[in-house]
Amino acid sequence: MSVLKIAIQKTGRLSENSRKLLEECGIKISNGANVLKSAAGNFPIEVLYLRDDDIPQYVEQQVADIGILGENIVYENDKEVDILEQLGFAHCRLSLAIPKEDSFTGPEYLMDKKIATSYPNLLKGYLKKNNVRAQIEEISGSVEIAPGIGLADAVCDIVSSGTTLLTNGLKEVVTILKSQAVIIANRNLDEAKKEILERLLFRIRAVKNAKENKYILLNAPQDAIQEICRILPGMKSPTILPLVEEGWCSLHSVVREDDFWERISQLKKAGAEGILVIPIEKMIT
Ligand code: PRP
Ligand code: ZN
Repeated sequence: MSVLKIAIQKTGRLSENSRKLLEECGIKISNGANVLKSAAGNFPIEVLYLRDDDIPQYVEQQVADIGILGENIVYENDKEVDILEQLGFAHCRLSLAIPKEDSFTGPEYLMDKKIATSYPNLLKGYLKKNNVRAQIEEISGSVEIAPGIGLADAVCDIVSSGTTLLTNGLKEVVTILKSQAVIIANRNLDEAKKEILERLLFRIRAVKNAKENKYILLNAPQDAIQEICRILPGMKSPTILPLVEEGWCSLHSVVREDDFWERISQLKKAGAEGILVIPIEKMIT
């Protein structure tokens, strides 16, 4: 029987959320703390726990069939793999940062400077695009300390909360790339593996949709319903149920997480009361 091999990060910024995503898809796996790989109990999938930087190459060579990792690493490595889906977690950016007391005048600030990074390819692309000649100092970790110890004038590194830059006396001046977790796949999967992948993607999309949306319930006077329906487009049209109180009804719909705060103030203005917003466990569209 066919098994789909999925590579996820062993330890690091993506590892916990990657495992959580599989669990939310109903796939039971071990936590990966002391193992290299583990088979899921109830889905034809085997999980390989790897360094994220190695995942693009392993997927290209089909050591793993698919992988979960940051776009930053996919674009830096530039392997023959397909990006299938953004996963909505591990948001970060690849940015240039300089000592906080310096003033950044534009890309020309970097002319003939030394820039420390673990992302030489993406940095090269930025420098080329901006016609800047600079020296790239490639280091594999703790890039942020490079200016402080005199190894470089600037850094090109991943920024998430910004704490690392702040504690090292650096400031972000240019964003080169925005990134989040994605799922990548080998380009030559056989039919059996493709079929498992489709089942997995179906579940991932249901989990993702659920996270991006909320279920909303509210009470409103009958004559406000039309206006409220305009504010809440919902999946199709909202469900409306009569209340015991004459002239009132209860309305149920789905609203996007992104804009539900804004919608809620509009709803109250339109006459809605007793508004409940409830998380959705899975959403199949
Ligand atoms: C990045 C980067 C910083 C840190 C920034 O490392 O190199 O060290 O995250 O995050 P912050 O803005 O929230 O402080 P990453 O987690 O990608 O680990 P790695 O460099 O070991 O791959
Ligand atoms: Zn890494």
